[in-house]
This record gives sequence, structure tokens and C-alpha cells, in this order.
Amino acid sequence: MLRLVIAVGCLLTAQVHAADPRTVELGRGIAEGAVLPEENTCSRCHGARGIGRPEEETPRLAGQPRLYLHKQLDDFAAGTRFSEKMAPIARALTPAQREAVASYYASLQAVPYPEAPYGDPRLVQKGGVLSAIGDLERDIRACEICHADAGVGIAPSFPYLAGQYAYYTENQLLLWKAGSRKNDALEVMAEIAQRLDDEEIRALALYFARVRPPPAALSSAVPQEPIPPPPDAPAVSD
Ligand code: HEC
Ligand code: HEC
Repeated sequence: MLRLVIAVGCLLTAQVHAADPRTVELGRGIAEGAVLPEENTCSRCHGARGIGRPEEETPRLAGQPRLYLHKQLDDFAAGTRFSEKMAPIARALTPAQREAVASYYASLQAVPYPEAPYGDPRLVQKGGVLSAIGDLERDIRACEICHADAGVGIAPSFPYLAGQYAYYTENQLLLWKAGSRKNDALEVMAEIAQRLDDEEIRALALYFARVRPPPAALSSAVPQEPIPPPPDAPAVSD
């Protein structure tokens, strides 16, 4: 019993560490304009609490795994992921500020989703099939292998796709297909995108834009009040 208590205690420490409230608070300040000039304030383009802004063609950031967001900011700063808008912003932040703002957006688990867009049912179904089983004949792996059931993501490295805006998902797949985005450490995304035709890319983007994950399935659950995991649960470090 004592060993169990110690084990649960260690897991709790890891969770509390992942959601260090001071880091999150520092990140919130950066997101809302405490550090950068007004035009570079994250919420101006990414919306309040990282909900995304279709007018700016920005992605939803709320609840995305902390390490994934941190890596993207480092990649924008280093130029290994190209974005005219994001590169100067990421470079203006110190490494500690990039970590803090990533922690802030990762901590936003309960931000509501916009209304699911209409999607031609034939396309949506096609996207769902590619996500769940891929296409064996053309060697296209199922998205769910890495992005989890219904694309809810797997922290720390696999972003959620569920609930992401279709314009953003479509554009990222096209960037990978064209070889302009190539910051994927596993080098799988370019290979997958090259095998998809433009209609399949559109189908996947629509399918994921319509999926709404149950709160319990969110990829980087960082509870505000840590809840003891069941004794046999694997350690969640992010
Ligand atoms: C001028 C508008 C603008 C501002 C300000 C801005 N962003 Fe962005 N951001 C974008 C756009 C546009 C993209 C999509 C880039 C692409 O298409 O690859 C993006 C993409 C991102 C991504 C990649 C998300 C993913 O799912 O891979 C992250 C992370 C991000 N921004 C974080 C931030 C943070 C943190 C701030 C504030 C410090 C910020 N952004 C400020 C426009 C902006
Ligand atoms: C073998 C693992 C793997 C498979 C299978 C996979 N992905 Fe990914 N995907 C990744 C990784 C890793 C990243 C993050 C890359 C990075 O760090 O920038 C990613 C990122 C993405 C992104 C960018 C998300 C964002 O917020 O910018 C999209 C979109 C995406 N994948 C779509 C898909 C689709 C659609 C499929 C199925 C057709 C798929 N992926 C299959 C591993 C995978």
C-alpha cells in the first residue's frame, strides 16, 4: 500500500510540474500582450484563449500538447518551419517565453469549439475512412495510428486534428505535399501527403473539422486540480 501511495505521489508531482502555474501565467501574459508589441500579440490572430480566427486563417491552439506547440515555436524561430507571419514573432521570444506560451495554450482544455462546418457527406465519409484505415493498396497509413482515435492527438508529439479548422488542415497537408513544410521529426507527414490527391486532402480536412472530441479524450489533459490516476495507469508526463 505504501509503495502505491508513493507511486501515485510521483505521478501527481509529474502532472503538477507539467502545469506549473507560474509558467502558465507568464504564458498567458505573453499571449495577451504583456511582452510583444500589439500587432504580435498572439490573441490578436489566434483569438481569445487560442480558439483560432478564420479571418486570419490561424489554427486553434487551445489544448494542443505543450511539447508539440513548443517545438513549432522553436521551428518557426529556427526557420525549419516556414511562416512569414510566425517567424518574426517566434524569434522575438526567448526560449523560456516560447516554453511559457506553449504551456499556456496547452493548459486550455475546456475552450469551446465553433459550430461544425457543413461538409458534403460523401467527402466527410471518405475522410473518416482514410483516418481510420488509410489505403493499404497505396501504402497510406491510417491517421489514427499516430493522431489517435478520431484525431484527438497523443501528447507529447502528435497534435490533435479533431476540431481544427478545415482551411488550416488542408493547407498544412498541401504544404507537406509541396515540400514546403518539412519539420516532422519522423518524416512521415510528407510521405503521406504526397500519396493523397487534392480531393482526399479536402475530405480529411472536412472530416476532422467536424469531429468533436469528448473532453476526457483531449490529448494533453493537464487538470487544474490534479486528480489521482488509477494505480495501473501509465505515467503521463505532458
Ligand atoms: C499576425 C498574425 C499572427 C500572430 C500575431 C501570431 N500568430 Fe501564430 N500563426 C499565425 C498563422 C497564419 C499560422 C499558420 C502558419 C502556417 O500556415 O503554417 C500560425 C501558426 C501558429 C502555430 C502552429 C500551430 C500548429 O498547430 O502547428 C503556433 C504554435 C502559433 N502560431 C503560436 C503563436 C503564438 C504563441 C503567438 C504569440 C506569441 C502567435 N502565434 C502569434 C498567425 C499569427
Ligand atoms: C506515423 C505517424 C503519423 C501518421 C500515420 C500520420 N501523422 Fe500527421 N503528424 C505526425 C507528426 C509526428 C506530426 C507533427 C509534426 C511536427 O512536429 O511538426 C503530424 C502533424 C500533422 C498535421 C499538422 C497539425 C498542425 O497542427 O499543424 C496534420 C494536418 C496531420 N499530421 C495530418 C495527418 C493526416 C490527415 C494523416 C492521415 C492521412 C496523418 N497525419 C497521419 C505523425 C503522423
